[in-house]
Amino acid sequence: MTSSLALAPGARWYPEAFDPQAQAALLAEVRAVLAQAPLFTPTMPRSGKPFTVRMSDCGPLGWVSDAAGYRYQAFHPDTRAPWPPLPPRIADAWSRFGRADVPAEACLINYYGPDARMSLHQDRDEADLTAPVVSISLGDTAVFRLGTEVRSGPTRSIRLGSGDVFVLSGASRLAFHGVDRIIPGSSRLLAEGGRFNLTLRRVTAA
Ligand code: SIN
Ligand code: FE2
Repeated sequence: MTSSLALAPGARWYPEAFDPQAQAALLAEVRAVLAQAPLFTPTMPRSGKPFTVRMSDCGPLGWVSDAAGYRYQAFHPDTRAPWPPLPPRIADAWSRFGRADVPAEACLINYYGPDARMSLHQDRDEADLTAPVVSISLGDTAVFRLGTEVRSGPTRSIRLGSGDVFVLSGASRLAFHGVDRIIPGSSRLLAEGGRFNLTLRRVTAA
C-alpha cells in the first residue's frame, strides 16, 4: 500500500501515489477528456475577473464559475455538451483514496500555466460534506497551502509533486487550501509544461 502522511486529522498526503507510468496513463485519460470538453476560463461571480487557472470537468457533474456564481452543472459552459464520463483510472483513484461504496460524481480538471495560482478557499459547494475530496497532481510541482477550517487560522506549505494524491476528509473536509504558485520546469510529464490537478468529489448526498 502507498505510504502516506497525516498532516492534520482527515488531511492525508500520499507522495508519489502514482508512479511515472501510472501518471502517463492518467494524463492520457485527461487528454481524452479535454478533446471532448476543452479547457475553459472560469470567471469570478461578482468581479467577473478571470481565474488564472483554466478548467474542465468530467463525470455526471462539473464545477463551474461565472457571473451566475459557483455551482455544479451537467454540461460544459461553452459547448453546452454533457461532461464526458469519468475515465476508468480516474474513477479507480476515487475508490482507492476516497470512497469505495459510492462513485465520484465530479472530477474538476484545473490546468496551471507558469503564472497560475489558486487563492485560499474551502470546497463547500457540495451537498454531501461527509465524503472526502481526492486531489491528484500531474506535472509541475505546486506550492500548496493548507490551513484549518478558519480563514485566518495557521497555514502550512507543502510541495505537491507529480503523482501525489492529497485527501481532505473528516475534520479537514472544510480546511482552507490553495496554490501559491507552481514551479515551472520541475516535471517533464506535460510536453507543454505546467500542472494538471484533478479534484474528485461527491456532490449530492450519498
Ligand atoms: C483546488 O483546490 O481546486 C485545487 C488544488 C490544487 O490545485 O492542488
Ligand atoms: Fe479546492
